[in-house]
Amino acid sequence: MNIVKEAKTFETISTEVLVVGVQKHREQMKNWSLFPAAFGEEIDVWLQAGDISSDEKKITKLPVVGKTVKRIVFVGIGEGKNVTEEVLRGAFGLVGKELKALKTGEYTIWLESFVTENISAEDVAFLAGEGTGLGFYSIPNYKTTSNVVDTYLDTVHFVTEANMDEVTSSYEVGLIYASAVNEARNLVNLPPNMLTATDLANYAVELGNQYDFEVEILNKAQMEELGMGGILSVNQGSSEEPRLITVKYQAKDKWEDVVGLVGKGVTYDTGGYSLKPREGMVGMKGDMGGAAAVLGAMKIIGETRPNKNVVAVIGSTDNMVSGTAFKPDDVITTYSGKTVEVLNTDAEGRLVLADAVTYAKQQGANYLIDVATLTGGVIVALGNDKTGALTNDEAFFEAFMEATIETGEFVWRLPLTESDKKRIRKSDMADLNNSPGRDGHMIFGGGFVGEFAEETPWIHLDIAGTSDAAAPHDLGPKGGTGAMVRTLACFIEQLAEA
Ligand code: BES
Ligand code: ZN
Ligand code: ZN
Repeated sequence: MNIVKEAKTFETISTEVLVVGVQKHREQMKNWSLFPAAFGEEIDVWLQAGDISSDEKKITKLPVVGKTVKRIVFVGIGEGKNVTEEVLRGAFGLVGKELKALKTGEYTIWLESFVTENISAEDVAFLAGEGTGLGFYSIPNYKTTSNVVDTYLDTVHFVTEANMDEVTSSYEVGLIYASAVNEARNLVNLPPNMLTATDLANYAVELGNQYDFEVEILNKAQMEELGMGGILSVNQGSSEEPRLITVKYQAKDKWEDVVGLVGKGVTYDTGGYSLKPREGMVGMKGDMGGAAAVLGAMKIIGETRPNKNVVAVIGSTDNMVSGTAFKPDDVITTYSGKTVEVLNTDAEGRLVLADAVTYAKQQGANYLIDVATLTGGVIVALGNDKTGALTNDEAFFEAFMEATIETGEFVWRLPLTESDKKRIRKSDMADLNNSPGRDGHMIFGGGFVGEFAEETPWIHLDIAGTSDAAAPHDLGPKGGTGAMVRTLACFIEQLAEA
């Protein structure tokens, strides 16, 4: 994308779309009077009458006659001084959708119209890059009748008095965040026949080539050699090979103080012999949302290169039914050596994560964050707009929450008590069971993974509710959301700066 480094004025700008923030009290807005002076005093009248709205996230489009600006897109930001970054991000998401609908990749933002007491021009530029980049996204489809030529965001100009170097680099980072989320969305949205474990591993290899990461892919024979009974048992019914994907980003001379990001990469979850009902199965192509989140975060890390060692480990397979598939009542031995009585083959994610977590620790991870579409229970508990969390380390979790505040991705922690752990460890046959019951089962799912993190500081993120959107939202269409991509990357950046 061409981010034009030369600041424009209303006199020098030539553009498809000029984006203008509208605050309720325009007297608070810096240089407002320049605007009606350039585009006509009627604008103030229309604002007064409410024809152009200042309501939060309300868009008003205005064609312009006889100017080098073809149209103005007004975005309401309400009271202005109280506006949050989250509202601005959403507002720019809607701008991105407008640009997509107008099939234009070129636009101009008047930064000062969005600046408030608490939000600087640089902040606005970041949120604009992120928001428009996210809102502009659409899902690639396979319709034979589709003759739409896809447009891309290609050029942005700024009308501003702020420092252009700072503004343009902020915008650029915002756009890097958005592009990585969009790539994660693409992975989630891919049909399961087009994204097998092997395909996911190939994607990771490409990412490694692009950003100079060390990538290791373990195949089935190698996993058998190592005794990875968790992921292998889930894969047992499949004709597709599993993959254990490891991506290393070494920022420091020494490979120490390493953060491990662990993702569930189940490319399709039928439930196995504990088969999902037919309505529950549709959408299970997205059961690799955790893997997508981790890979998306690695893409941002590859671009921004924070000073923090990171290892990403993804366990990938599908969960299928066949004569060779694993069964309820099977007892398996995980890579850690811990044995598990399988009570439900649909509780497969925790088995995959068990081996991936053990492997991440072995690769030197001193901190662990696992991300997974793990349980329907998290949706029952928190709805579709909140990621559920567990932890074994208060301080680590608190630091993580700082990142969620920065990115606006809502995370809520649930408890993990000794009595919960007792139920995970209750089995006549093995060390653990994989399905202690349906009551509070988000906690059992995540808590099971925690058994493998052991004493390593650990955060579990259950994105079963947030990874896939049932309806369009401010920052994108329905489908894969790329949940946790931005927060994971932001957290790594914050740790690097700490
Ligand atoms: N992949 C599912 C969880 C899921 C549900 C993701 C809805 C996205 C949307 C997971 O493997 C699963 O089936 N979990 C079971 C666990 C149960 C058997 C203990 C569930 O949530 O019902
Ligand atoms: Zn399942
Ligand atoms: Zn699953």
